[in-house]
Amino acid sequence: MPLTDLVYLVFVCKFAAAAKTNDRPIIGVLAQEVFSPEPQRNSYIAASYVKFLESAGARVVPLMIDKPEDEYTRLFRSINGVLFPGGGASLESSGYSRAGTIFYKLALEANSKGDYFPIWGTCLGFELLSFLTSGEKLLSPTNTSGIALPLNFTEEAGDGRMFRDFPDELKKSLATEALTENSHNWSVSTEDFTKSERLKSFYRVLSTNSDGQKEFVSTMEAYSFPIYATQWHPEKNAFEWTRPYIPHSPSAIKTTFYMADFFVNEARKSFHSFSNVEEEEKALIYNYKMEYTGAQSAFEQKYFFN
Ligand SMILES: *[C@@H]1O[C@H](CO)[C@@H](O)[C@H](O)[C@H]1NC(C)=O
Ligand SMILES: *[C@@H]1O[C@H](CO)[C@@H](O)[C@H](O)[C@H]1NC(C)=O
Ligand SMILES: *[C@@H]1O[C@H](CO)[C@@H](O)[C@H](O)[C@H]1NC(C)=O
Repeated sequence: MPLTDLVYLVFVCKFAAAAKTNDRPIIGVLAQEVFSPEPQRNSYIAASYVKFLESAGARVVPLMIDKPEDEYTRLFRSINGVLFPGGGASLESSGYSRAGTIFYKLALEANSKGDYFPIWGTCLGFELLSFLTSGEKLLSPTNTSGIALPLNFTEEAGDGRMFRDFPDELKKSLATEALTENSHNWSVSTEDFTKSERLKSFYRVLSTNSDGQKEFVSTMEAYSFPIYATQWHPEKNAFEWTRPYIPHSPSAIKTTFYMADFFVNEARKSFHSFSNVEEEEKALIYNYKMEYTGAQSAFEQKYFFN
């Protein structure tokens, strides 16, 4: 082969490899209202969500509440995915739900045009995604506030993407050991999920759980969009210690990591970027200080925002 062809071939291969993944993914984490606002403390992000994403090779940008829509649109074009954290904000009338709704719509639009953009919802984030997709508040009370459970994988889980690359050993542990921490008083029951044409046609249920009375959806992913949600908290196992029911066994910590690894790999398929380095630097969460809050709150560390 002539040298020029070889050089060309190397160039093409390098380019193809480079184009395949974005190895500098930046993920937006949605802030939410604090329960009792104080000066300079109107909203917060629990640091465990940030560490969760960082542990798998992403950087984080906080998505502040109460910003104009065009600012969210500009940020959307700059980042590679969004995480809706758990918490206590209203699904209908909070800055969290308003911003979440905007990012959800932008993501549906972008993905429909082939512009890959993943979303992850944890706990309240799961509930927000169910609400946005179904257009209804399909929540039933469950006795699941502070308990770790194994997952009841559905038959469809095998066709899904989320657990596909998990080690078999870990999947077995997830199905038999209490590795998934639940902190919610409300759930989407399997019954309501099945009755909702919109939910059923949009999401594949990967796991369910029961509080002994009611079966609810605990893990789901959209069939045709990179949208993922857990009613449980994958980030807590490795990064939160204030509650006795948070599992910390080696398998529990691996669960945190493999969930983060899965989602960050989804973000690596997005090629949005900030228009310049200064803008990127200014947006990153490194500009904010986390504070120790473990003595008063369920979270060891939090970021507070105006
Ligand atoms: C709720 O579940 C806990 C176990 O997690 C159990 O001890 C408690 O009795 C249950 N409460 C009700 C009202 O069923
Ligand atoms: C569930 O409700 C109980 C009783 O109101 C409350 O103490 C607890 O903090 C709630 N748990 C969550 C996760 O919201
Ligand atoms: C798994 O499903 C069975 C059957 O519905 C139920 O009895 C059990 O409580 C579930 N396990 C968990 C951990 O939710």
